Amino acid sequence: MRPRIRPAAAADLAALVALDQVCFGASAWSADSWAEEFARLDGDRVVLVADEGAVVGYVVLLVPAVVEDPVDLLRIAVAPDERRTGIGGQLLTKALERCAGRTVLLEVAAGNESAEALYRGFGFGEMSRRRGYYAGGEDAVIMRWPGDVAAADVVAGDAVAGDVG
Ligand SMILES: CC(C)(COP(=O)(O)OP(=O)(O)OC[C@H]1O[C@@H](n2cnc3c(N)ncnc32)[C@H](O)[C@@H]1OP(=O)(O)O)[C@@H](O)C(=O)NCCC(=O)NCCS
Repeated sequence: MRPRIRPAAAADLAALVALDQVCFGASAWSADSWAEEFARLDGDRVVLVADEGAVVGYVVLLVPAVVEDPVDLLRIAVAPDERRTGIGGQLLTKALERCAGRTVLLEVAAGNESAEALYRGFGFGEMSRRRGYYAGGEDAVIMRWPGDVAAADVVAGDAVAGDVG
C-alpha cells in the first residue's frame, strides 16, 4: 500500500515521538522537543507524515519566512520495516515541492550511506564538512539543494516510474 503524504496534525504527535525513538534511538528528539516543533507548525516548521493507516515516515523542515534564507531539512525518517520501498523518496518529493526556488540545506553523518544516497538522488550536493563533528568522531556533511524545481520534478518523475513517487 502506497502511503499518503500529508501535513502532520496534533493527533500525530505521540506516533511521531515513538517512531523517532525507533529511528534515532539515543539521538531521538524528546517528547518536549517534538511538542515545540508542533507548536511552530503555524510558523516556520513544516512536518509531513507518510500515513498508511499508521504513521510510517516523516520529514521536518525549518522554512524561514524570508524567502532568501535557506530552508533547513531537519529530519527525515522511515520506519525500519518500510524502508527501501520508496517512502523516503515520496516524503522528500513533497517536501521539496514546498521549497521551489529556495535553497535547502541539511546535515548528514558521513557514514549514513542510505540518507546520503537518497539526498544525492534528489540533486543535493556536498557543500562543506565539519570534521569530527559527531561524538564518535564522524564527520558531518552539509548538503545543499539548489532550489531547482525542474530537477526535483525529473527525479520525482523517475521515482514514480520506479514505484516511489
Ligand atoms: C534515509 C531514509 C529516510 C531513506 O528512506 P527510504 O524510504 O528507505 O528511501 P527510499 O526507499 O525512498 O529510497 C530512495 C533512494 O534512496 C537511496 N537509498 C535509500 N536507502 C538506501 C540504502 N540502504 N542503501 C543505498 N541507497 C539507499 C536509493 O537511491 C533509493 O533509491 P532505489 O531504492 O531506487 O535504489 C531511511 O533509510 C531512514 O529512515 N534512515 C534512518 C533515519 C536517517 O538516518 N535519516 C536521515 C538523517 S536525518
